[in-house]
Amino acid sequence: MNSHLIAPSVLASNFLALETEIKMINESQADWIHLDIMDGRFVPNISFGLPVVQAISKVAKKLLDVHLMIVEPEKYLSAFHQAGAGAISVHIEACPHLHRTIQEIKQLGCKAGVAINPHTDVRLLFDILEDIDFVCMMSVNPGFGGQKFIYRTLEKIKVLKSEIISRNCNVLIEVDGGVGLQNIEVLLSTGADILVAGNSVFSSKDPMAEIAKMKQVSVNTFV
Ligand code: DX5
Ligand code: ZN
Repeated sequence: MNSHLIAPSVLASNFLALETEIKMINESQADWIHLDIMDGRFVPNISFGLPVVQAISKVAKKLLDVHLMIVEPEKYLSAFHQAGAGAISVHIEACPHLHRTIQEIKQLGCKAGVAINPHTDVRLLFDILEDIDFVCMMSVNPGFGGQKFIYRTLEKIKVLKSEIISRNCNVLIEVDGGVGLQNIEVLLSTGADILVAGNSVFSSKDPMAEIAKMKQVSVNTFV
């Protein structure tokens, strides 16, 4: 069963050849395009912003998955939607009025996601599960690509998956950070649905083939 989605993270791509990189993703078996927005406040790094998302959207043929690692994300939802976002995730740690922010994302017509840092208790998501489309489970500390996968995340995925099943709600689990062929099988068998992959895709000799391999990993069921 190969129903999982692959979302290459543009942060790890060659910015000097962005158009070529996006066209490669278009031609590949990838499902979404993951765009990391960092503000130097919520995370200790700055990436790229609205004009870059807008430029990418002119070439991209896949859903733009905008991961907002910024404070006060509610101020920019409409702007990112206009720039071409098809999915927007906001951090639970950055949203005192998460329910309201989620409703605003949905009113724009975007898929609504909540991202959660490695140290944050996954049970804090339980009361929002009925309202969201996906959880972006951080498996590294947000801010940088190329970090090591934190294996404790598997426990969090397990807890989240069983809550999603018991509530019978339609929420996908996206895993973000340190994901590659070395851990995709265990992630899928634990309950992951969407795999974000930055360096594992763009540092490989043949990114398109790497995406195909990631897509082909299959497991029968989750544990
Ligand atoms: C980290 C970002 C990730 C990152 C993943 O702050 O949210 O999306 O780009 O990169 P890799 O796959 O290299 O860990
Ligand atoms: Zn991300």
